[in-house]
Amino acid sequence: MYRQWGKRLFDVVLAVIGLVLCLVPGGVIALLVWARTGRPVVFAQNRVGRYGQPFKVYKFRTMRVEADGPDQSTITTRDDPRITPLGRKLRRWKLDELPQLWNVLRGDMSFVGPRPDVASYAERLTGVERRILDIRPGVTGLGTLKYHNEEELLASVPDPQRYNDEVIFPDKVRLNLLYVEHMSLFWDCRIIAATVYWKLPFHWLRALLREAPPGARGPVAELLADTPLKGTAEPAVPHQREAILLIGAGGHARVVLDAAQQAGFPVCCILDDYPQDADLLGVPVRARAEGLATLAPGQAFLVAVGDNRDRERLFVEMMSLGFKPVTVVHPKACVSPLARLERGVFLAAMAVVNPDAVIGDNSIVNTAASVDHGCQVGAHVHLCPGVRLSGRVSVGERSFLGTGCSVLPNLRIGKDVVVGAGAVVTWDLPDHCVAVGVPARVVKLNQKPGQREPSWGVADGK
Ligand SMILES: CC(C)(COP(=O)(O)OP(=O)(O)OC[C@H]1O[C@@H](n2cnc3c(N)ncnc32)[C@H](O)[C@@H]1OP(=O)(O)O)[C@@H](O)C(=O)NCCC(=O)NCCS
Repeated sequence: MYRQWGKRLFDVVLAVIGLVLCLVPGGVIALLVWARTGRPVVFAQNRVGRYGQPFKVYKFRTMRVEADGPDQSTITTRDDPRITPLGRKLRRWKLDELPQLWNVLRGDMSFVGPRPDVASYAERLTGVERRILDIRPGVTGLGTLKYHNEEELLASVPDPQRYNDEVIFPDKVRLNLLYVEHMSLFWDCRIIAATVYWKLPFHWLRALLREAPPGARGPVAELLADTPLKGTAEPAVPHQREAILLIGAGGHARVVLDAAQQAGFPVCCILDDYPQDADLLGVPVRARAEGLATLAPGQAFLVAVGDNRDRERLFVEMMSLGFKPVTVVHPKACVSPLARLERGVFLAAMAVVNPDAVIGDNSIVNTAASVDHGCQVGAHVHLCPGVRLSGRVSVGERSFLGTGCSVLPNLRIGKDVVVGAGAVVTWDLPDHCVAVGVPARVVKLNQKPGQREPSWGVADGK
């Protein structure tokens, strides 16, 4: 109902109220723009709207008139010389977007939705991504919120155009698809409230909320506590290949190193507590303590160790030392833009992660393992080669699912569980158990938390 007509009604009512309220401030801004930089006061740019139909988006002009030529870049950085001093202030507080109330009233746009793209970007949408064009573009949306500091972010990278094309644009597509899937009145209200919080000059409100004790957080802060709205500027799968550091030099590390190199990550060095060889596939291996002393915190790392407990320990240690976990995805893995990969995840060749699945921090989806839609895989989990998780399965933290095992839909596998190679799990498994066979039966219960996972045949656990 909301999709069909509720959203439009919501937009019309809000746009009328907004236009009435903004009449005076809008008039003042128009006069200022006119007085400082002349005409035109309002700038109209062609964008792609619902069903791919072109329309003109209106904004107060913030750039010099000659900046609108066909050769001009469509991305803007904070220090862009085309922006006028008044324009900089308007953009900072997003007041340049006020004329879009008119776009909303006309039905070109909605208050909440994907930002309307210029044609060259809209043409890049393929397959399922084109579902973004089924809805009206928005004045604000998940992408706008996550990249609320986009101009600063772009100003901080060496090649803003490339960063936008390879990192920000694909991540915005992912967020827009998420919105298309979950669109509701509740989401729209949350996104509008969060936009007001982030975009408008309410520094005092932000400071107040940040300083408030956790128990006394305001409603807006609570609203933002949920991830997609708050987010970070870093996508789950970094497209800008930075040099990474691998921790571990065992069998699993060879698989990770090979994937990282194929994915185009330069691996600067490998650290291991007990290095056996001087190098691994040509990359030098050094003792961990000694190597860490020479590296600056902030260096990207991935723990390439198959054993869940060791991997967790090393991950926590590296994080506490200020190193930054990176996610490595083999170029032949297949990840839906609607899936979420948390920090320090490794996806091997042919791994598949379907929409709405979440892979927790520091987990491994090994060769040809598949994670179907809506699965929740906890932190420090190892899905061995060929594991198949059916839809909406949840796997608790540190669980180890042996080679080729399958899990039927909707089941819950507890934490610290070991599922034997080739098992078929047909019912929920409690925490701290070992289950084997077809159908899987529990052969050991209540392994003590902290006990090492079995090393039996865990070929690459080190
Ligand atoms: C499940 C597993 C961890 C059990 O190891 P374990 O605790 O040493 O267990 P045991 O060898 O003592 O076996 C216990 C019983 O389970 C059976 N069993 C063990 N693994 C089994 C499996 N995968 N499928 C069916 N039965 C299995 C044993 O035959 C034994 O049965 P029994 O008591 O009737 O003789 C191990 O067999 C396994 O499957 N490891 C996964 C290996 C893997 O996938 N590695 C990939 C690394 S990337």
